[in-house]
Amino acid sequence: MTAWKNDQVSEAETAEIIRLAREALKCDGDFVELGCYKGDTSLMLAEVISGSDKKLWIYDSFEGLPVKSEQDYSEIGKDFKEGELYASKREVKERFLRAGMKVPVIKKAWFSDLTEADLPEKIAFAFIDGDFYESIRDSLKLVGPWMVPSGLILVHDYANEALPGVEKAVDEWNRNKNYKIKRFESLAIIKTN
Ligand SMILES: C[S@@+](CC[C@H](N)C(=O)[O-])C[C@H]1O[C@@H](n2cnc3c(N)ncnc32)[C@H](O)[C@@H]1O
Repeated sequence: MTAWKNDQVSEAETAEIIRLAREALKCDGDFVELGCYKGDTSLMLAEVISGSDKKLWIYDSFEGLPVKSEQDYSEIGKDFKEGELYASKREVKERFLRAGMKVPVIKKAWFSDLTEADLPEKIAFAFIDGDFYESIRDSLKLVGPWMVPSGLILVHDYANEALPGVEKAVDEWNRNKNYKIKRFESLAIIKTN
């Protein structure tokens, strides 16, 4: 495994994401990432699925973070502002080409504008990393119906006091599903059934 530098996800989380992504290879379906930014985790996931029949689909506004809602308010999260974490679709595509990796399906859109036609028909592994309440809520609503049995949803920043909207959105979504949520550092790990 290439040591991709990942400045958004801790080293321990990176190792856990790779371990779980490998586990999801045995499930039917593709891999998705909602909130890919510069593509650090996308490159890791692409490497995990290389040699398999799976495809990687990645999504981002490529305009940075949206406006936050009041659900996201936190004294220590004041730094997360509209337009931050901007990366362009072209730069992400070029990173894949430079790395000699297969370019994933890359969709530029706000998550609220995506529909089921933008998603694979079956999802084995979903990495959700949109930072804000509405971004996580919209991501879960999109991927949830397409997860295969024993598929994995990982939500970054679930346990991050600076981004309280993430936990709220996950817990609300899970209220009538009751999936067991495992934590690893800031990650929520959800096995779907
Ligand atoms: C923390 S970064 C993602 C980091 C990336 N997953 C990684 O591991 O390197 C969050 C990304 O989510 C995107 N994003 C947040 N909310 C969004 C929304 N509602 N629609 C589209 N993109 C969104 C931002 O543009 C930003 O690139």
